[in-house]
Amino acid sequence: MTFRLREAEEVRRRLVADVAHELRTPLSIMQLKLENYQQAGQHVPPEMLLRIHDEVIRMSMLVDDLHVLSLAEAGRLSLDRKPLDLTVHLARIVDDLKFEAEENGLEFQLSTISRPLTVMVDARRITQVFFNLLTNAIRYTPHGGKITVEIEDRVIDRDAFYARVSVIDTGIGIPSEHLLHLFDRFYRVDEARSRHTGGTGLGLSIAHLFVRAHGGFIRVASQTDKGTVFTVYLPIGNDQEKVDNPDRIMSFQ
Ligand SMILES: Nc1ncnc2c1ncn2[C@@H]1O[C@H](COP(=O)(O)OP(=O)(O)O)[C@@H](O)[C@H]1O
Ligand SMILES: [Mg+2]
Repeated sequence: MTFRLREAEEVRRRLVADVAHELRTPLSIMQLKLENYQQAGQHVPPEMLLRIHDEVIRMSMLVDDLHVLSLAEAGRLSLDRKPLDLTVHLARIVDDLKFEAEENGLEFQLSTISRPLTVMVDARRITQVFFNLLTNAIRYTPHGGKITVEIEDRVIDRDAFYARVSVIDTGIGIPSEHLLHLFDRFYRVDEARSRHTGGTGLGLSIAHLFVRAHGGFIRVASQTDKGTVFTVYLPIGNDQEKVDNPDRIMSFQ
């Protein structure tokens, strides 16, 4: 009990320290710019204000992400679950991001089953999951690479059926010693580079918690300089549809 309390206190302390650290960077950039403009004593051109505006947007994104993350961590994320055809939905997300991928010199491909694949999910939350995974794939794959989204139906894992979506990239990869921490908030493999390229460092934590709130999970496999695969498992079907596994039945007797 004492150990648990101490552990919870340590988590809380680290969170406060992390948030302070993350907010400090955009705040000091804004402060510095504003001080410079004031000292120059001239009219501030609109394009200079744009750079401050960028930092404000970044901070709002961070605060929004933190808010939703704290709800998900506390198990209080509201889910508006409705039937959703994953095939159609992912085609739409891929379409939305195609321009950005092609601008970065990447091939972007959706490999899918032709039938509908219906899952009971909150479309908005699931969109964010795939948006986070796909923007990472785009961000961490150099020019000339390829990103594939693969959808599979009725994949069996530990006695249950799942819809499985893999986001496969041919990017820089993630060294194995980092894989364990990847879903921790603010964890970045390359602190300086990732921060520079614009992420809040919360994308994977959010994706992981959103998928877990739906009763699913995410797996990751990666090889440095070869690429990364993030695989999202979303439950389909109901209890009666569970695999008829004799071992499982035995365990209930
Ligand atoms: N597809 C990928 N390829 C290589 N590295 C990745 C990939 N996705 C995530 N990462 C690594 O995991 C870290 C955490 O990702 P994320 O939580 O989305 O934060 P960020 O805001 O930095 O993108 C990233 O900083 C990056 O180092
Ligand atoms: Mg990200």
